[in-house]
Amino acid sequence: MQITILRLGHRIFRDQRITTHCGLTARAFDASDMTYCGEKDEKMEDSIKKVANAWGDVFEVKYEKNWKQFIKESKNHGKTIVLLTMYGIDSHSIINELRSKEQLIVVIGSEKVPSDIYSFVDYQVAITNQPISEVSALGIFLDRFFENKPDKKFENSKIKVVPQLRGKKTSNQS
Ligand SMILES: C[S@@+](CC[C@H](N)C(=O)[O-])C[C@H]1O[C@@H](n2cnc3c(N)ncnc32)[C@H](O)[C@@H]1O
Repeated sequence: MQITILRLGHRIFRDQRITTHCGLTARAFDASDMTYCGEKDEKMEDSIKKVANAWGDVFEVKYEKNWKQFIKESKNHGKTIVLLTMYGIDSHSIINELRSKEQLIVVIGSEKVPSDIYSFVDYQVAITNQPISEVSALGIFLDRFFENKPDKKFENSKIKVVPQLRGKKTSNQS
């Protein structure tokens, strides 16, 4: 299953850290790529690419000016649009149905979500009906979706963690 993340809204100075964390979370939890709207930010793109380069696998970050166009085209290609929102239905009740789809676009907002987004999506999915951060909503959704068993192998990594009960250890891959 290929999952693309659509991050709605990005302001270079205010959102750089959180959009980067959305990208890193998406990558680690097995999404294929992230498209973001708002202000184009090469520095943020580079910081995600640098992590992917060191820690393995390809994770593309793309910019899209027009989110409506992106969603319309995705729908035309048969993709299913899932908006993560506290106003949605509980993820547990819908996750099996979502697993049967061919391709998902998982949409996450930033500070202000455009009010017309709700009419463009196929599913509104909540990770609790309480306000949380887009980073945690995304991580929890993807973890539930893939049942904590991601396919990703993180191939061609330059560095890997050697898991330890205490302390930090990494190994360089040749
Ligand atoms: C910090 S929230 C901003 C919410 C914003 N005030 C609004 O108008 O909806 C940013 C994003 O986090 C995600 N989010 C926040 N709480 C959520 C929840 N309980 N379940 C799923 N996604 C959530 C949504 O994608 C939301 O657009």
